[in-house]
Amino acid sequence: MRDDEFDLDRYLRASKKVDLSGLPWDRIKDHPLPEGEARVLAYMMDIETHTVIYLRDLLATRAAFEPDVTAFLSCWVYEELWHGEAFSRFLGEAGYQLGPDGERVWSDSPYPSRLARNTWIRRKLGSKGYASHVATMLGAAAFRDFVALHMTWGAVNELGTLTGYRLIIEKTKHPVLAELLQRITKDERRHFAFYRAQARMRLARSQSARRMTRWAMEHVWAPVGTGVRPQHETDFAIVQVFGDRTWTEPSGSCPASPGPGWPPGRSGRQNGALARRHAQPAPPRRWPRSGPRRRPKDPPRPLQARMVGWPR
Ligand SMILES: [Fe+2]
Ligand SMILES: [Fe+2]
Repeated sequence: MRDDEFDLDRYLRASKKVDLSGLPWDRIKDHPLPEGEARVLAYMMDIETHTVIYLRDLLATRAAFEPDVTAFLSCWVYEELWHGEAFSRFLGEAGYQLGPDGERVWSDSPYPSRLARNTWIRRKLGSKGYASHVATMLGAAAFRDFVALHMTWGAVNELGTLTGYRLIIEKTKHPVLAELLQRITKDERRHFAFYRAQARMRLARSQSARRMTRWAMEHVWAPVGTGVRPQHETDFAIVQVFGDRTWTEPSGSCPASPGPGWPPGRSGRQNGALARRHAQPAPPRRWPRSGPRRRPKDPPRPLQARMVGWPR
């Protein structure tokens, strides 16, 4: 299946991990990183790293029978992995230690980082994660046009991520964070472009796909990451990043913005409003930050059993 809007061949040839060469890692500690920004980055780090689990769910559906979709997903999951690692290293160099083990992560720490944290997050999902997997499989089996919904859902989530990163770039006073996000945003723009092109093509040719997708986006969709981390972390990230902004209206022009009428089923303004309706500004919570911000002379030590607090 071909589409005119997105050059899949070009994307597959060019796909690579986000280019972090020359990023001034040693200057991260020289600029304060407010706790609110760190908390959003930790949330996005977790969600970017969780992409492989989303992929597991999707490959159990009709999407697996579409070679162009699976080719894209193969590179997409690889790129998202490196986004998670980039945030992990940035937070570590900024002096943040996260639960459950408070692992110190440096820019040159072994890959993958935060094994204990990611194991902990996946285990905490428990039966909810399996229920979501089964629900996705059943939904895909029941709806012939499931892939159209999947592409639309993906487009909305990539657009939300892209817009969110652009808003952080605008607001942050941390020059290295802004530079890091500029590099990651290039990938997110391509992800959005693929999903949008696929969604438009599939929705255009099927009225039942449009009807089902509209219903699902109005009744089932939730901001990216919902359910993976505690709801108050999703709420905090939405309020912190978007405030009263909408998903299709980052300040200035967003090259990836498809303009009015997108996404189908609900406007960007409505998406933002829905996300914020459930999101209350989080009350002050103890958020973990401890440990020296400067790299110790000794080499990194193996994981210790010391527990670092985490908001419940
Ligand atoms: Fe990403
Ligand atoms: Fe993405």
